[in-house]
Amino acid sequence: MAGREQECKQTDADKGIVIPDDWPGYPLDLFSFPEHYSEDLECVYIPHGVIMDRTERLARNIMDDLGDHDIVVLCVLKGGYQFCADLVDCIKVLCRNSNKTLPMRVDFIRLKSYLNDQSTQVLHIEGAENLSALSGKNVLIVEAIVDTGKTMKTLLDHVEAFRPKMIKVAGLLVKQVPSGTGYLPDYVGFEIPNRFVVGYALDYNEYFRDLNHICVISDRGKQKYKI
Ligand code: HPA
Ligand code: MG
Repeated sequence: MAGREQECKQTDADKGIVIPDDWPGYPLDLFSFPEHYSEDLECVYIPHGVIMDRTERLARNIMDDLGDHDIVVLCVLKGGYQFCADLVDCIKVLCRNSNKTLPMRVDFIRLKSYLNDQSTQVLHIEGAENLSALSGKNVLIVEAIVDTGKTMKTLLDHVEAFRPKMIKVAGLLVKQVPSGTGYLPDYVGFEIPNRFVVGYALDYNEYFRDLNHICVISDRGKQKYKI
């Protein structure tokens, strides 16, 4: 999109809540989580309640910027489903309780690029065939995690080809990786160190989506669910 770079006036607030490199997380026994993962996690990195509170504020920021426009929310599956559902719920609450309104349509796209805890070079985009409905629309892409930024760049190029009026991106997590492009979404929940996290719909080989908190996977968990 022409002017994407110029539009980005980024301040510290744009990085969201910054989790420092030495953040040890919370001991597992301070929280509840599914028993079947008791050996597979190292710590609770971001408790579910904190994710929800941050999401509520992102919804407000999105309403402040986009309220009174129509938007198409483009949820990036599978990892983004929980964040997208909670973000849309928060926007709905704000719409019910204020004079602003944000009519939303919700659409889905599926990306796959990870095997075990490694990014592969191949990016599959599924559900991209019918994106012609995005033409002339305000699009909000909702993604759970942005690490190198390459996946998001590929997706943005893809969506831009359908000539939407505007594209904004909400990313729950931005991971600091050495090979990062420095890309930051317009709305960021948390900036996290380079650790492999699971839960809140983020998976390791399809496991851990049924965990509410965002947690760090243990070495044992990585071994157990490796393919
Ligand atoms: N966890 C789950 N999926 C991911 C991650 C992660 O840390 N990074 C990129 N995809
Ligand atoms: Mg995954």
